[in-house]
Amino acid sequence: MATHVITGAGSGIGEAVARRLHARGDEIVLHARDAGRAKELAAALPGAQTLVGDLSDPGKLSWALSHQTLPDRVDSLLHIAGVVDLGAVGDLTPKTWINQLNVNLVAPAELTRLLLPQLRVAQGQVIFVNSGSGLNAHAGWAAYGASKHGLKALADALRQEEHGNGVRVTSVYPGRTASPMQAKVHQQEGKEYDPSKWIDPESVATTILMALDLPRDAEVNDLTVRPGR
Ligand SMILES: NC(=O)c1ccc[n+]([C@@H]2O[C@H](COP(=O)([O-])OP(=O)(O)OC[C@H]3O[C@@H](n4cnc5c(N)ncnc54)[C@H](OP(=O)(O)O)[C@@H]3O)[C@@H](O)[C@H]2O)c1
Repeated sequence: MATHVITGAGSGIGEAVARRLHARGDEIVLHARDAGRAKELAAALPGAQTLVGDLSDPGKLSWALSHQTLPDRVDSLLHIAGVVDLGAVGDLTPKTWINQLNVNLVAPAELTRLLLPQLRVAQGQVIFVNSGSGLNAHAGWAAYGASKHGLKALADALRQEEHGNGVRVTSVYPGRTASPMQAKVHQQEGKEYDPSKWIDPESVATTILMALDLPRDAEVNDLTVRPGR
């Protein structure tokens, strides 16, 4: 049975992916920011294991994971957690920059480093949920866009490095998706939020599972998903 480690499983896209993998009987290991959140996630998906570590403090992830039981093999590592804070370059403070770079870029790199041995054993797959902002940067999106451009670089380098070890690497670039993150973006943009205008997280989950379930003779490198309406 396949084992999947999932970040961001408490909300939006990550929650949809975790529910789908849980429903089909795969082993899931849900990453959570703290022990209280881990308890909530495990209660929502009975049988799921959890891993605890705050992604906003990637320097402590190694220590945190060294005190927890890691799976022996990891068939997929799904980086779905993320944060956004809009602001013009003239207004963004280092704190806002650093938080987005840590959660969206440095922590995925560190978690990948820590789980690479288990991914190699399984000849597994790393999936990075990126964003349209990882391909094009727009006014007001500098810090988030920089973190996601960096995430693309991380994925592209890792793909080349791990090809010989049989580890596949996929980046998924969703457009605006109806989730608590998108509600916050609308609030920061001063716009009214209508979730029916945006992609359903279930559709992004379908895209991710498509890449995950592709037979091993092929690897999806990059997938862009845009709102259909
Ligand atoms: N929504 C969109 O329009 C959109 C578009 C393109 C790309 N994306 C990307 O898609 C991914 C998922 O976004 P979403 O819309 O599903 O967002 P969401 O509903 O806000 O969920 C974000 C998840 O990240 C977790 N997280 C945030 N900070 C964390 C930290 N410090 N430590 C551990 N976990 C943390 C949250 O944990 P808690 O549950 O504990 O809060 C939550 O589960 C993100 O990478 C985002 O950048 C989203």
